[in-house]
Amino acid sequence: MKAILQSAYGEPAQVLSLGEADKPIPNKGEVLVRVKAASVHADVWHVVKGWPYVLRAMGSGLARPKNPIPGTDMAGVVEALGEGVTRFQVGDAVFGECAKGFQWANGGAYAEYVAVTQDALAHKPDTVSFEQAASVPTPGLIAWHNLMGPRPWRAGQHVLINGAGGGVGAVALQLAKAHGATVTAVEHTSKLAMVRALGADHVLDYTRDDPTQGGPRYDFILDVASNLNIRDCARVFNPGGVYILIGHDHYGASGSKWLGSGIPSFVKLLLRTAFDPHLVKPNMAAPDRLAGMALFADLMDKGQLTPVVDRVFPMAQVVDAMAYLASGRAMGRIVVVP
Ligand SMILES: NC(=O)c1ccc[n+]([C@@H]2O[C@H](COP(=O)([O-])OP(=O)(O)OC[C@H]3O[C@@H](n4cnc5c(N)ncnc54)[C@H](OP(=O)(O)O)[C@@H]3O)[C@@H](O)[C@H]2O)c1
Repeated sequence: MKAILQSAYGEPAQVLSLGEADKPIPNKGEVLVRVKAASVHADVWHVVKGWPYVLRAMGSGLARPKNPIPGTDMAGVVEALGEGVTRFQVGDAVFGECAKGFQWANGGAYAEYVAVTQDALAHKPDTVSFEQAASVPTPGLIAWHNLMGPRPWRAGQHVLINGAGGGVGAVALQLAKAHGATVTAVEHTSKLAMVRALGADHVLDYTRDDPTQGGPRYDFILDVASNLNIRDCARVFNPGGVYILIGHDHYGASGSKWLGSGIPSFVKLLLRTAFDPHLVKPNMAAPDRLAGMALFADLMDKGQLTPVVDRVFPMAQVVDAMAYLASGRAMGRIVVVP
């Protein structure tokens, strides 16, 4: 089959090429999917660059990626079933996450076919295209796991999402709205209309406004852009308000090459957790893909989760797609098609 092959960690133009790979054979419990679309997001960028270096020791592969085919999430059509698969049939339209375990590893989505465990797949609703569905799983699972995971969800909460127009933020915004929250979205001027269209009740422009300088109070701050200071956030919390850091390195613009910025920030927060009422113990468990994917399928079917796709690139132009991602100019998700 045709696939994008990653020869080493480094600049996408130097390490990625279109080549040939063996068509996967689905193992027990796996589904072979003919890929129709795969998403390009921050974690794919991290694994292609091998940046921060620590990810290489976290399962991705020390000298080069263990799995040479990038991409962690996709949508497509079921081609064949491994032994014991009960939830799908050949010909079903599906979407899901193919990275195994932690998302800082290649999952093989940038290819004509990929084998995926059935528990990381859901049926694609007819209400969305393959391109839209492909853009949801990995950022969506991070959004859901962090937003809905840490404590029982209450309708009527006021949620601040910092970086609400990106991959994680756009799903978090719509999840929060679907669960009855009031949402304030913080974004760049150019993305404010988009986050309003996604359902934000209030918007703040990060080039002008500082969400921690007063104004409304929040029950939950989801810091996707990862630039807020927890001490400043304390000024705008309702009692019992919770701060959650996603850990964004802004495509290498912030943080050290060994650890990035996310890991040191998580460690600092962890040390404060014992005495800061706005911090909860980090949820280190992997997201429950089966439950998360079922939720996304249901919300897309009901029109409560509408993925916005900015541009679709042929898979052979994945280098251009990654440059566009890192430019920050995209108004919605970026997708590649075989
Ligand atoms: N996406 C995933 O699938 C996934 C999965 C697991 C973990 N993560 C981690 O989560 C992080 C975020 O991922 P993402 O996909 O959401 O990234 P993204 O698509 O780049 O979104 C980040 C958003 O934050 C905005 N932003 C930049 N500076 C800001 C500021 N100072 N204040 C408020 N907003 C600001 C960006 O806008 P501008 O670019 O226009 O400034 C952009 O819209 C990444 O580090 C990634 O490793 C992501």
